[in-house]
Amino acid sequence: MDSKTIRDKFIKFFVEKNHKEIAPAKLVPENDPTTLLTSSGMQQLVPYLLGEKHPAGKRLVNSQPCFRAEDIEEVGDNRHTTFFEMLGNWSLGDYFKEDQLKWFWEFLTKELGLPKEKLYISVFEGDGNIPKDEESYEVWKSLGVPENHIFFYGVEKNWWSRSGPPNNMPAGEIGGPDSEVFYEFTQIEHNKKFGDRCHPNCNCGRFSEIGNSVFIQYQKKDDGTLRELSQKSVDFGGGLERLTAATLDHPDIFQTDLYQPIIDAIVELIGKEYEENKSAMQVLADHLKAATFMIVNEVEPSNKLQGYVLRRLLRRAAIKLRHLNKEIPLNSLALLIRIIRAIYEGLFGAIKEKEVNFLEGVVKNEMDRFSKTLDHGLKEIEKIEKIDGKIAFDLYQTFGFPYEVTEELFRQKGQQVDKEQFRAEFEKHRELSRTASAGIFKGGLADQSEVVTKYHTATHLLHQALRDVLGPGVFQQGSNITAERLRFDFSYDKKMTDEEIKKVEDIINQRIKQDLKVDHLIVPLEKAKEMNAIGLFDEKYADKVSIYGVGPGYNLDEDAKDKRIRGGYYSLEFCGGPHVEHTAFIGKIKIAKEEAVSSGMRRIRAQIV
Ligand code: SER
Repeated sequence: MDSKTIRDKFIKFFVEKNHKEIAPAKLVPENDPTTLLTSSGMQQLVPYLLGEKHPAGKRLVNSQPCFRAEDIEEVGDNRHTTFFEMLGNWSLGDYFKEDQLKWFWEFLTKELGLPKEKLYISVFEGDGNIPKDEESYEVWKSLGVPENHIFFYGVEKNWWSRSGPPNNMPAGEIGGPDSEVFYEFTQIEHNKKFGDRCHPNCNCGRFSEIGNSVFIQYQKKDDGTLRELSQKSVDFGGGLERLTAATLDHPDIFQTDLYQPIIDAIVELIGKEYEENKSAMQVLADHLKAATFMIVNEVEPSNKLQGYVLRRLLRRAAIKLRHLNKEIPLNSLALLIRIIRAIYEGLFGAIKEKEVNFLEGVVKNEMDRFSKTLDHGLKEIEKIEKIDGKIAFDLYQTFGFPYEVTEELFRQKGQQVDKEQFRAEFEKHRELSRTASAGIFKGGLADQSEVVTKYHTATHLLHQALRDVLGPGVFQQGSNITAERLRFDFSYDKKMTDEEIKKVEDIINQRIKQDLKVDHLIVPLEKAKEMNAIGLFDEKYADKVSIYGVGPGYNLDEDAKDKRIRGGYYSLEFCGGPHVEHTAFIGKIKIAKEEAVSSGMRRIRAQIV
């Protein structure tokens, strides 16, 4: 089956079971500085999994583009990628294990027609005070899954939270036992290198996980123990790429329609066959696809946060390309963007034809810069007498040379690099970055810290103030908040004058001073439109929507011409929150910078002072 058929079938299957399709979250979360990139469908739903009421109801479904940086080193086999599309369905305190497992089984075996004998199941075996998941085991058996196809595993494999097993979960984080389904590719012989016996979680490639039903039942408490949530929820995620491969009974996701055109273009560009160069070509295909999605989501290569992830992807891709064929200029990888665009045409508002030149420009620029660093790095290597594991790691860190590239270069020089020492350095570094990211992920929840919430409400005021001063043609194009500042992109084709900037700033501060009340309304879509709520919104997704009003808008200014619009609020926007309750909480806003992003788009950075 092709991926589009599977994606459509999945959504339809759950919509028929009374689920509402919700819009996927942006790949770069807008108001959540705790998370660099969206890595699962549940991320935007954390407040609702904790009990808040979702405007679309208790049963939700969607397809979510995801990125997992921690998998970057795994890419280069038949099934791992950093970027993937996750089909997801959720029960927010509604149905639980029985319906979830029964429905997913029906989807796999009836809708996708996967042969039952090729499907294997894993279930949570329990850990300390957390009981074994007998209920899921019984449900699977009642569905006709033979006992020898059901395997029990511990917290390392059958527990899901965004930070892994219970011990790693920070206070506030939610999670629970899960039950996974695996597809067996019988044409792949088990490789004893991975253990004597093959089993669903064996890494030899014979089994591929195609779906994970997480039963969100617990929250980590401040004292380190787990508490049972009063609301029991289901969080299901299944990788579309792997599901597609399973329907084809073909173990290589890079040979499904989601990657094959990219691989074909790489083969043509490099002039070598896929069969002999699989791993490097898989890395190229994945990294360019992930990079494309990031750039579309306004990430620029840099040495910080998302920008650094993007830079790493492009550098790793560049090195692979050099390795495959050093005659090909690194910037020719930009050619792949058009191919990637065609694969996702019409989806996720992904890439518009008019954006292609811009995207190609970003990739070319970065590649041209790196090309110089790379040549420099290669010269440095020439000078080094003996490469030990530590130097290999420094090369990896400084020039982005993956271990295997360094190893290959010295093999050519007749040297052998100490892999163990490299690994040790690598692990040390990984520990450090884990600690650093534990900082970023602190709290576990989407960041609803006070200062971020203040910036979020300030963003709404800014949006409306810009419309007041520059005209109603101004619309939000992007927003990004950290604890230090807000960044807001909007449609406007001229540089703002100093007077205009001052006027916008004054309006915001006046609205803050007036201490306006902020209301959260959940209303039918029609009503929100009638009230003239603004914001980017795809109406395909909901009949009830969440909007935030900062108001009232009438009696603020004697001469307000639009006092009847926006339901009487000064600002009224489609938004999932959270916001401050009264604007005076915000403090005072200062616009620090106004600049161009691209033609027709401006960017403002502002701070609470
Ligand atoms: N959150 C789970 C996962 O990412 C299931 O959606 O695997």
